[in-house]
Amino acid sequence: MTDRLAGRLIALGVTGSIAAYKAIELLRLLTADGADVVVMLSPSATRFVGPLSFAALSRHPVETEILDLLPDGRIGHVVIADTADALVVAPATAHWLGSMAAGLAGDVVTATCLATSAPVIAAPAMDGDMWTHPATRANVQRLRSDFGYIVVEPESGPLASGQSGVGRLADLGSIVDAVVEATRDRPVRQPDEAARPPLSTGPIRDSDLVGRHLVVTAGGTREPIDPVRFIGNRSTGRMGVAVAEAALDRGARVTLIVADTDVPLPTDRAHLIRVETTGELRAALLGALFGGDAPPAEARFDALVMAAAVSDFTPAHPAERKIGREAGLTLELQATPDLLAEAGRIAHGLDSGGAETRARVTPRPVLVGFAAETGSLGRAAAKLARKGVDLLVVNDVSEPGSGFGTDTNRVEVLGAAGDRTALPLLSKREVADRLLDRIAEMLDSRDAEAQTAAMHEPPR
Ligand SMILES: Cc1cc2nc3c(=O)[nH]c(=O)nc-3n(C[C@H](O)[C@H](O)[C@H](O)COP(=O)(O)O)c2cc1C
Repeated sequence: MTDRLAGRLIALGVTGSIAAYKAIELLRLLTADGADVVVMLSPSATRFVGPLSFAALSRHPVETEILDLLPDGRIGHVVIADTADALVVAPATAHWLGSMAAGLAGDVVTATCLATSAPVIAAPAMDGDMWTHPATRANVQRLRSDFGYIVVEPESGPLASGQSGVGRLADLGSIVDAVVEATRDRPVRQPDEAARPPLSTGPIRDSDLVGRHLVVTAGGTREPIDPVRFIGNRSTGRMGVAVAEAALDRGARVTLIVADTDVPLPTDRAHLIRVETTGELRAALLGALFGGDAPPAEARFDALVMAAAVSDFTPAHPAERKIGREAGLTLELQATPDLLAEAGRIAHGLDSGGAETRARVTPRPVLVGFAAETGSLGRAAAKLARKGVDLLVVNDVSEPGSGFGTDTNRVEVLGAAGDRTALPLLSKREVADRLLDRIAEMLDSRDAEAQTAAMHEPPR
């Protein structure tokens, strides 16, 4: 191990290439050479590799969202741009080369590169035809000659497309060498720790949900009025999808039941069930939890997080043909079933009247509900009891930065024991992780209790 980068802060930008997984090893090599590394992922890169490994290895929170502020209110990409001794973008996509050449700053990697005066090293990786395209050639030329970027050329070899050609990410050792070379003889830019990007606070979430099956619902249901119209709601699915992604990153098996959403879904990692109406959501949910509406003796899931915004009403008689304007429209609505309460009753062995008529599902699953309120959150405690859930996450959707369509949320988590935890305004991902901290803890103590009980059972 050498320490050619001791005292240096190196920003590692990762973009959406099939070679993104190699950036984890590059991070390790940079740290092995003494660097403090902070990682930035483009939104596409997060589809190839999750932030968890980067966060754990770098000990810094990973920057993924250009519009998210650091917890202390500073602007993440500006802090990195001002304090990094060098920026290395590896793998760098054709799209990144083009965005940089045009001066576009649509994500955290491009914005940081534009905002810095530190040397930038780029290691492109792409399909051979993309690399030889005149646009890519011109972009590389501009980055080199106009911006002074150091471009570590891709190598020749087999490519993800199945073809062979020039486009493979350069050897990682040569990328590290280029970073060392670019910073040699330059003074450390910001030795002051306080000026640098923050270190991770609290535990880096590890794989504490391995072996657990979480069922998560997300998005807003749509209730048909006629074949073209529906009753919907403002849910975008961001909170539920954030819970599913965080659970996947922590090793859980996730069934994600999604109604209408406008966010990318973890299609390749979760078992995804798409639904539209409350009726479809009910069928999918009871199927995933219990294999139908009768419970098996053994639980098929460890936790249910019900983040979908389920319509409380549905048209009593949806029209089979489009209703014309001339006919006028008066809608008769009927209440939909309370799915969370129903799942809770089945799991706890209760009938619709609340009487214990069948065996409880074991081991006891953890049930979590969300309640969107406007104004007072006073009704929440009664809701928690009525639905028979373990945790109820309540937020005031009329508050700025909270609720539908935002990347942040301020929530209060109510526990069945009467406890209340008010969280500050956090990213939805952080809210998801805080919630999963509670769920992981509850599942661990559930299992510990079951083990103790088994030890005290009289031998048969
Ligand atoms: C499976 C897969 C692999 C890809 N690999 C590359 C690649 O190696 N290089 C590249 O330039 N683009 C690649 N792309 C296309 C980029 O992901 C796409 O252009 C994206 O918009 C890049 O966004 P970013 O530069 O903001 O990360 C790939 C796409 C897919 C679906």
